[in-house]
Amino acid sequence: MRKLVAVFFLLFSIAAYGQDRVDRLLSRMTLEEKLGQLTQLVEDEPEFQPALQKGLVGSILNGEGAAKTNQLQRAALAGSRLKIPLLFGYDVIHGYRTIFPIPLAIASSWDPQLAELSARVAAREARAAGIRWTFAPMVDIARDARWGRIAEGAGEDPFLGAVMAAAYVRGFQSSGLLACAKHYAAYGAAEAGRDYNAVEMSERTLREVYLPPFHAAVDAGVATLMSAFESVNGAPATANGHLLDEILRREWKFKGFVVSDWDAVAELINHGVASSKEDAARKAITAGVDMDMWDNSYSTLAASVRAGRLPIAVVDRAVRRVLHAKAQAGLFDDPYIDERAAAAVTLTPEHRAAARRVAQHSIVLLKNERDLLPLAKSGRKIAVVGPLADSKDDMLGPWAAQGKGEEAVSALEGIRAVVGDTVAVEQADVIIAVLGERRSMSGEAASRASLDLPDDQQALLQSLVASGKPVVLVVMSGRPLSIAWPAEHVPAIVEAWFLGSESGNGLADVLFGDVNPSGKLPVTIPRAVGQVPIYYAHLPTGRPPNPQDKYTSKYLDVPIGPLYPFGFGLSYTKFDYSDLAISAPSMRPDGSLKVAATIRNAGDRAGEEIVQLYVADPVARVSRPVKELKGFQRVALKPGESRRVEFTITRRDLQFWWHDGWSAEPGEFKVWIGGSSAGGLEGKFDLVSK
Ligand code: NOJ
Repeated sequence: MRKLVAVFFLLFSIAAYGQDRVDRLLSRMTLEEKLGQLTQLVEDEPEFQPALQKGLVGSILNGEGAAKTNQLQRAALAGSRLKIPLLFGYDVIHGYRTIFPIPLAIASSWDPQLAELSARVAAREARAAGIRWTFAPMVDIARDARWGRIAEGAGEDPFLGAVMAAAYVRGFQSSGLLACAKHYAAYGAAEAGRDYNAVEMSERTLREVYLPPFHAAVDAGVATLMSAFESVNGAPATANGHLLDEILRREWKFKGFVVSDWDAVAELINHGVASSKEDAARKAITAGVDMDMWDNSYSTLAASVRAGRLPIAVVDRAVRRVLHAKAQAGLFDDPYIDERAAAAVTLTPEHRAAARRVAQHSIVLLKNERDLLPLAKSGRKIAVVGPLADSKDDMLGPWAAQGKGEEAVSALEGIRAVVGDTVAVEQADVIIAVLGERRSMSGEAASRASLDLPDDQQALLQSLVASGKPVVLVVMSGRPLSIAWPAEHVPAIVEAWFLGSESGNGLADVLFGDVNPSGKLPVTIPRAVGQVPIYYAHLPTGRPPNPQDKYTSKYLDVPIGPLYPFGFGLSYTKFDYSDLAISAPSMRPDGSLKVAATIRNAGDRAGEEIVQLYVADPVARVSRPVKELKGFQRVALKPGESRRVEFTITRRDLQFWWHDGWSAEPGEFKVWIGGSSAGGLEGKFDLVSK
């Protein structure tokens, strides 16, 4: 009901400002004023102040704080002849001041409600600091862990990615921030995992894998999109009419506006598709990039219009979209922010509690030999070691907005809050090694050619294991790391990613059993960097890997398959799957089927399991992925309790991209229900044509 009210309110505020008023405003604007609305600048650029004073800046990037944004807004409104307010944009990626786990970690919860909660809290804090627009969510699918930005998204899978994308959009936009789905499109497929690099990809892969989260964001009402840096099949995303016009506008009916990424318009020159800034600007706006971030290229369009090289209608179209978004953000009604309100909604106990809850659910238990975990809270001396053990700043991960290291709880602090003092390694009964990446090692411009534990961390781990004492490895990272040696030699491994302000508390809740871990991997963990890109939904090969046969698809020097598969994650209890049933042997294209299984908590602790549904089309006119995720549900079960979990399959779950449309081919389909992408209960049914 509350959501409905919010939607009505939004529609009402746009209607109140109205199409007519936007058009009337537009009709009174000079060409320079129009281009100003399409220009986003940062404050420290030399052209900023003069442009602001003349009312020629539409949006500011990185201005934040209620007093600051009010001051800038006052200056903008004083300069703007038609009193058009500024739109303040900021990278509020996983929290503003209260920092939540990184999006890859939140994806490990497989819980859209937690993603939405994190976005609502972030929006509340950011909005109080004058921000109206976040450059989030990042919905890029990433299948190559060398790419540092894998940390910012929901991992490798389009289905999970789409669910998370919609949840973030709802969360941000219901709490006062316009959202921005980025980076449109296929940025996560940068060749060799090198940031900003080119992408070559079939239309089918684009449609089936990389676009679904964007489409879901559009369907959820996302206000804006950001065009990506890279080229897709030779056409840079920032001047790509196929992506920006044909798909986004014509097929998906997107009505909001598109902003370029930072300098991406001017970089069309480097891409070799534009000869000058003006040429670049013309190509970008014509393709459908409405606002230009940072490089001030759109100011060159005045000459283009006057010389007849660009129809004014193209400019007007973009300005109309931007003005609408400003109306949607409530800026025409109230451009200022209450400067006394921020303290009451920033880093509150309630927000910290939300961050801790999300952290608890973002942790993935990878290994737990002989039930080493959970640890007893007393009676055993614990040593906590490793470069990340007490590094408060690193807990925040990349893109931490206004988060402050000193406000984060380190692993050591969280553990001490439970057990009191910790000891040195020689005196310990149990060692907790907190290893992994510094926060600067993931995020933008943080590609790595190695996925190993950095520096001499593995040597440290080896020496700890050699002590003969039980070792718990906590991995902090913005990407899956190739931890093949630890997987073999360390009895317990916890993937904690970066958990944000409440890192240490969330971690301790799991290590000492107050919370039973339930996270599942949103991304495959490779054995070695040479295996990437590695992902569960790969195509079949004519020569499936066979260790007995040299001439099959595999590496000579690494065992077959991933170290830990997509969807995998342990619990302190055990879940049994049984009694798969399919409601009918066949399904018509316009019909549906129910697939169900019984999940039982076979252990002696309450726990939550993420039950996953996969399908495959073993024979079709094109090779289809060996498995594709099509549903998941979180179930909470007491010891001994069972539950029947049911999924509905429709044509949408069975179709693939064929030339210029979606097609579901009659024939046999396979279906699995299980606790990861590997294994599960298997069944089959037929899709019939009539
Ligand atoms: C560049 C990044 O690619 C993008 O994600 C971010 O939103 C902008 N810079 C603004 O900071």
